[in-house]
Amino acid sequence: MGLILRDLSLKIAENVIFEALNLQLNSKEIHVLLGPNGIGKSSLLKAVAGHADYVPSSGEILINDEPISQCTPEIRAQKGVFVAFQNPAEIEGLSVANFLRTTLKAYPQNPAYHWTATQFYQQLYELLAQVGLPKEFTSRSVNCGFSGGEKKRFELLQLLLFKPQFAFLDELDSGLDVDAKKLVAAVITKLQAEGMSFLIVSHDIEFIRSLKPTHLHVFKEHRLISADIATLNKIEAQGFCTL
Ligand SMILES: Nc1ncnc2c1ncn2[C@@H]1O[C@H](COP(=O)(O)OP(=O)(O)OP(=O)(O)O)[C@@H](O)[C@H]1O
Ligand SMILES: [Mg+2]
Repeated sequence: MGLILRDLSLKIAENVIFEALNLQLNSKEIHVLLGPNGIGKSSLLKAVAGHADYVPSSGEILINDEPISQCTPEIRAQKGVFVAFQNPAEIEGLSVANFLRTTLKAYPQNPAYHWTATQFYQQLYELLAQVGLPKEFTSRSVNCGFSGGEKKRFELLQLLLFKPQFAFLDELDSGLDVDAKKLVAAVITKLQAEGMSFLIVSHDIEFIRSLKPTHLHVFKEHRLISADIATLNKIEAQGFCTL
């Protein structure tokens, strides 16, 4: 059960990015993925999202034992997958409010799917306040001119609104101030208690500790190696080259 990556391999232009990679995400688990720049962390998340440029050469992605590797990104979202990219797309002309309302239509199992416009805006304003964004944000074009921190707060808002089963978050902490990092950790802990599972990519050791991860993985030589808190301390002190 849960979400499984089974023997997943990816090549980009004949370069092996990862090979026979295995991972299982169960409800209420927080997995953290670490690794040096350019090793393949973001590529893995794009492959899970169903990005057309990151189609695995072999292996399988399963949700509750059902293969989803052939599914479109929309179907994967309906099955509970949410991926927050390292560099989220800017969509000129599409307002935050319209983007969120339209995207909610991909989640028929979410109670928010049935909200009236009034209910939607009421909830949206509450969530904006929770993540520290002003009401005026609803009429801004998605991610256009957002500061680094605002983009990440907007991702947090999506997580709170869409309530996916499996959240893949690529450097959600990057560009966030100290208070926002605490907010992110608190929101993740709350959603974990509700049953959500996470795979979080981060380079910030202190932030990783604050998440109290149930599983740690280090990307090395095209595979994931299981790690523990001692490994985290070692990486902090000596870097990845010592592993
Ligand atoms: N579309 C692409 N075309 C060519 N090369 C790519 C493409 N996407 C990723 N790569 C290459 O694949 C490798 C892995 O990139 P990826 O973005 O997954 O790294 P990362 O582990 O997320 O790094 P960082 O910590 O810097 O974000 C890099 O060498 C990158 O240049
Ligand atoms: Mg990356």
